[in-house]
Amino acid sequence: MAVRKILTIADPRLYQVSEPVTKFDRKLRDLARDLFDSMYAAGGVGLAAVQIGVLKRIMVIDLLKEGFYKAVFVNPVLIEKSQELQQGEEGCLSVPGLSLPLARPKWVKVAYQDLMGKEHTIEAEMLMARALLHEMDHLDGKVFVDQLEPDLRLSVEEDIALIKKGAEPRHYKVPPYRRKAS
Ligand code: NI
Repeated sequence: MAVRKILTIADPRLYQVSEPVTKFDRKLRDLARDLFDSMYAAGGVGLAAVQIGVLKRIMVIDLLKEGFYKAVFVNPVLIEKSQELQQGEEGCLSVPGLSLPLARPKWVKVAYQDLMGKEHTIEAEMLMARALLHEMDHLDGKVFVDQLEPDLRLSVEEDIALIKKGAEPRHYKVPPYRRKAS
């Protein structure tokens, strides 16, 4: 077990596109274990490898307690998404202290590989769809705070700038952010 440091958006690697996984070996399995360990230690439900500084297209999600799934997703690809959106609050271990409303497709279909390289597809809705989209965005160098509604984004601009400078949540302007989805 290895709990690894989770990068915040102060780190430029969070904005880089991760490389496809091509080797399904022991090293990949160790990486998956580290991802779960680091995610649980931080109290999260999803983590992408880039968040621990590994620019590979692998991510983990554990939403078993919420009635969904726990799995490792290697080289995930969005196949289909619903036009219908869901509202909900989103947070990210790389953006500590911020939880903000963001509209996402209600339903998605995603193709991915497991740790052995075997191909699968998953259909997911609500929170599981949100988690898949959030983590897949990380693999493309995208962070949820850059997808907020313009007015909302503007209202948290100062704190996002603070996080990017490496400040901790207690230094934010208006902690904590608990805004109701509207
Ligand atoms: Ni995240």
